[in-house]
Amino acid sequence: MSQKHFLNQFLRKGNKVGAVAPSSRFLSDKMLSSLPIEQCKLIVELGPGTGVFTERIIERKNPDCTFIMIELNDSFYSSLVQKYQKEGIEILHDSASNLQEILSKRSLSQCDLIISSIPLAILNKELQNSIIKTASDCLAPDGAFVQFQYSLQAKKVLSQYFSKIGIRFTALNFPPAFVYTCKN
Ligand SMILES: C[S@@+](CC[C@H](N)C(=O)[O-])C[C@H]1O[C@@H](n2cnc3c(N)ncnc32)[C@H](O)[C@@H]1O
Repeated sequence: MSQKHFLNQFLRKGNKVGAVAPSSRFLSDKMLSSLPIEQCKLIVELGPGTGVFTERIIERKNPDCTFIMIELNDSFYSSLVQKYQKEGIEILHDSASNLQEILSKRSLSQCDLIISSIPLAILNKELQNSIIKTASDCLAPDGAFVQFQYSLQAKKVLSQYFSKIGIRFTALNFPPAFVYTCKN
């Protein structure tokens, strides 16, 4: 179901979705397994799509943790609301570039984790920079911004905003993907 939904949105919205299929469980493991999700007070997910990473975050997060999801696509947003609204999670139909305003309206600022699937490679430079800068500005001092991409191209722009970047790779995804773990 989530595969069909994804392909359907890719065919309709193409570039804005950024992939033809949801991420694999192997990419999910690379993104999330080493992160201290249980200890976090504030987690933000950017571009949750059909919720592949969301499921894993919900399974592991502390009940007191504030979890905010930001999804731009109308159809993914509606189905995320149907699936997760009851879990007490905040699901927003908005752009990742508005993260700072979204947090300050809620008197929040310092995210322990920002998990991002935003298709940086297909965004214009201005939006790409704005999303990455905002994510860096909204991180707690020892927080992490975790982003996957299908190439190493993002390293250059990420290194303008983060001082530490770790990169891992999985071939077990379509397409194969690089996971960037960035800290200020
Ligand atoms: C490559 S898909 C990944 C979806 C899902 N997290 C996964 O791994 O299967 C990228 C997602 O980012 C969303 N997206 C793209 N630009 C966005 C933006 N500016 N703000 C929020 N979401 C955005 C797309 O609608 C899509 O759901």
